[in-house]
Amino acid sequence: MKMIGSRWLRIIGVAALTVVVIFGSAVSWRLLDRDPEISAPDVVPSPELVARGEYLARAADCAACHNVPGGEPFAGGLPFKLPFGTIYSTNITSDRETGIGTWSDDDFVRALHRGIAKDGTHLYPAFPYTSYSGISRDDAVAIKAYIFSLPAVHKAPPPDRLSFPFNQRWTMTFWNLAFLDAHRFRDTPGLSAEENRGAYLATALGHCGECHTPRNIAFAMDNGRQFAGAMLQGWHAYNITPDDASGIGGWSNQQLADYLKTGHGDGRGSAAGPMGEAVANSLQYLTPTDVTALVSYLRKVKPLSSEPTNPAAVSVTKGAFADEPGPQEQKGTLGERIFAGNCAGCHLWNGQGRQNHFAALVGGRTVSDPDGTNVVQVLLGGADLRTVHPGVVMPSFGKGFSDAELAAVSNYVIGRFGGQVGRVSPEKLHQDRSNQP
Ligand code: HEC
Ligand code: HEC
Ligand code: HEC
Repeated sequence: MKMIGSRWLRIIGVAALTVVVIFGSAVSWRLLDRDPEISAPDVVPSPELVARGEYLARAADCAACHNVPGGEPFAGGLPFKLPFGTIYSTNITSDRETGIGTWSDDDFVRALHRGIAKDGTHLYPAFPYTSYSGISRDDAVAIKAYIFSLPAVHKAPPPDRLSFPFNQRWTMTFWNLAFLDAHRFRDTPGLSAEENRGAYLATALGHCGECHTPRNIAFAMDNGRQFAGAMLQGWHAYNITPDDASGIGGWSNQQLADYLKTGHGDGRGSAAGPMGEAVANSLQYLTPTDVTALVSYLRKVKPLSSEPTNPAAVSVTKGAFADEPGPQEQKGTLGERIFAGNCAGCHLWNGQGRQNHFAALVGGRTVSDPDGTNVVQVLLGGADLRTVHPGVVMPSFGKGFSDAELAAVSNYVIGRFGGQVGRVSPEKLHQDRSNQP
């Protein structure tokens, strides 16, 4: 279940406000400025087109939202929980009644570029057309050819449950006029061909910004702060600009490539939560050339600073830190006792990970964030990168531990492996627990 917080409330509110404020200038500018949709007859799919479409659908991670665990591919039905109701991802298989089997290439391309369904209904930006707008028509058509090559699944997603006025989809017209940059991706002069390929993968297909770029008051991506880090579903998607202190400036190319491709960069921790899913569904399938392109583009993004900063160099490999319970000040605390009994078996006292290097905590940003945002999420939800590497599993500790106990062990790992004073309170645990799917 995806949680979207109060974004919709704001989207609708600001959509209404936009009518009044931005209507004049911005709107006419936007209408003139957007790329025209080119109409063309449907392409007859070839095996090559379908194969290319499969690769692109993975790079764009359509499965993240259109597959429910255990369900048939692209049959939809994943709930997106909003403060005032729930919407469900649609069935995008070629079923003619419950899916999009009657859609032409033009219909499909318009949905990706403009967020408008075949019947003219506006889609909500839980569907990231704000990024997919950059996808070329050729690539969009290939994605459709691939999805349509799979079995049609006759299954209607549950009906949306949105109350008035939030079910007024037409209000999105104004939001789109204000915030949708309806341009196809264009190469940036001055970047190499490789960097531009990486830019296309990151901004259009891979939609990294939908998670890593902070949102403005109307919950549109604030592209002036591209990739500076943002909150989503209770997780912190960290700053991935080349800033040394708070971004990935200090990561080697190898660490970055490994993290994206396998979910773990040595000395940098592992991907869990929404990033773990992005790796498992999407990034692990990228060709080495595309991973290199992505990395080279990430180096070119404007460096921006943000919180939390990167881990201080904490020495946990030598002396008392290595194989003994923590430093003096943490000895005998509740956090230490819980770590000893429940965590050290997999993570080891020195945080290097026993299971395998995926369980290494040292050097990861998660444990150096004093707020413990992602530590708490991983404790409540567990982690599972099984699809990438067998056995990279952490159980959920959500049941059987009190808020105080989980807060204590969170602060313990932040202190021990991140060298920071953790600020995780039982109240935060309580709050995050009640927001868990
Ligand atoms: C982050 C989640 C997410 C991702 C990723 C995503 N979608 Fe969706 N998509 C949705 C949701 C949610 C809806 C329903 C939106 C609504 O009801 O307003 C939707 C709706 C659609 C629709 C409209 C269908 C209809 O019947 O109206 C199409 C087409 C679509 N998606 C195709 C795709 C394709 C192709 C991809 C990959 C390139 C993709 N989606 C990736 C969440 C997502
Ligand atoms: C669905 C949301 C989502 C998408 C899409 C996404 N990320 Fe992430 N990303 C996250 C979250 C959440 C984390 C933190 C994961 C953790 O702590 O285990 C993260 C972590 C990372 C990190 C590690 C940062 C650090 O300091 O530890 C990198 C690098 C990264 N993402 C790059 C990317 C790139 C490049 C893309 C696009 C190709 C991308 N992400 C797409 C949510 C996302
Ligand atoms: C069965 C083995 C196992 C146990 C027990 C376990 N972990 Fe983990 N943990 C892992 C693995 C494997 C990962 C890496 C998975 C990933 O990030 O996708 C991980 C990841 C983490 C992360 C990093 C998540 C991120 O987003 O970077 C933290 C923090 C963590 N564990 C803390 C704990 C704490 C605290 C306990 C005890 C309460 C614990 N773990 C118990 C195996 C385990």
